[in-house]
Amino acid sequence: MAFRFDSTYAGDIADETNLRAIAPETAAAHAALHTGTGKGSDFLGWLTLPRDYDKDEHARIKLAAEKIGRQSQVLVVIGIGGSYLGARAAIEAVQPQEHNGSGNLEVCFAGNSLSPAALSKLLAYCGDKDVSLNVISKSGTTTECAVVFRIFKALLERKYGKAGAAERIYATTEYSQRSKLYELAQQEGYECFLVPDPVGGRYSVLTAVGLLPIAAAGVDTDALLRGARDAMDEYSRSGDLFRNDTLRYAAIRSLYYRAEKKIEFFAAMEPDFALLGEWFKQLFAESEGKDGKGIFPASAVFTTDLHSMGQYVQEGERTLFETLLSVREPAEDVFLTNEPGDPDGLNFLAGKPLSLLNQQALSGTRIAHFDGGVPNLLLEIDRADAYHLGWLIYFFEKSCAVSGYVLGVNPFDQPGVEAYKNNMFALLGKPGYERERAALEARLNKAGSQ
Ligand code: PA5
Repeated sequence: MAFRFDSTYAGDIADETNLRAIAPETAAAHAALHTGTGKGSDFLGWLTLPRDYDKDEHARIKLAAEKIGRQSQVLVVIGIGGSYLGARAAIEAVQPQEHNGSGNLEVCFAGNSLSPAALSKLLAYCGDKDVSLNVISKSGTTTECAVVFRIFKALLERKYGKAGAAERIYATTEYSQRSKLYELAQQEGYECFLVPDPVGGRYSVLTAVGLLPIAAAGVDTDALLRGARDAMDEYSRSGDLFRNDTLRYAAIRSLYYRAEKKIEFFAAMEPDFALLGEWFKQLFAESEGKDGKGIFPASAVFTTDLHSMGQYVQEGERTLFETLLSVREPAEDVFLTNEPGDPDGLNFLAGKPLSLLNQQALSGTRIAHFDGGVPNLLLEIDRADAYHLGWLIYFFEKSCAVSGYVLGVNPFDQPGVEAYKNNMFALLGKPGYERERAALEARLNKAGSQ
């Protein structure tokens, strides 16, 4: 088995009696997903994507990735949220030796903030390099992405001329007149890749949204999809939480939530998985945080953050549970040497691999946090490669959907994200927002005068 779910330190809240009591709810959620009868059922494309993805488009993605590698030193991927995090998480998590020869292409990310400092730095970095762009936006209207794309498009047109730039710009979006990006891509002749309608942003990493940047970075997208496919088969077989780890994870999360453990602390034992923590937070926060409900997801890297957040986890408010991620076999290991005279007192570790220290730190942490009142779950994969990452992605997506259904929310919408955008548009003077602008300015002036 490529993946293990260990609930040894899940505690009494998740004991067999409580799991049996909640099992009908996870079974019903699982059935609703598979029959398309739950909330947001227009957005279930991700559920069978590892089997049903467009094979012709995947071939086109691989060709585009090769072309980008031939033409450019830098691929700038412009997108935000679900159109950003999955690709970056995958590229960072998969070990470099699996990167398979798209030359020395560097993949950089932009359009995930409105920071002028970050953008200026990247523009300067790209100045004397050969650059391609992959602009990703399902809706094709997201401000951060559109603004940054406008700036990079101008840079490429100055460098290569309009036609030359069009040869280096790839647009990933929905194929619809609703998408301004799609319309622009048609006009300018950019190669387009599809974000399928029934796949929402945060569930889209296994579409062209993730696959093109991931392939361009040289990561094996066939293996990624194979891992997701094997996970899909494994987690479709049974609606019984004792036979399906996505249901067991969703059930345990729900039990914790009901027992007032409302913060999930996701911690990976590998720094390369830090971005996966960011992807995890988006997936769960946007899927569950609504209707006044939802577990608050936080993330960290251990042992790094045991020296920062560790104190709180051990002794702060007892509202936490942990989900830990460990990789069993490191890509490479490092062995401790023997030092004559044992000046630092570490000779008892001589000849031992660093992976052993990491594993024992994990075991020690699990017991210490459990004893301190923080129950924890362990997810373990054999290797940090594309196959295992694909498995993990599917595991989280399905667990999240089931968990959302058990919570009683629609895990596939994100209505709350509009509020800040509306205020920003109004304050920037977008036509049609005049009334809102006046009201907001009055509030800002009042705040300023206090
Ligand atoms: O999960 C989601 O739907 C969101 O986080 C989106 O991915 C994000 O807002 C970006 O949207 P778009 O791809 O339309 O630019």
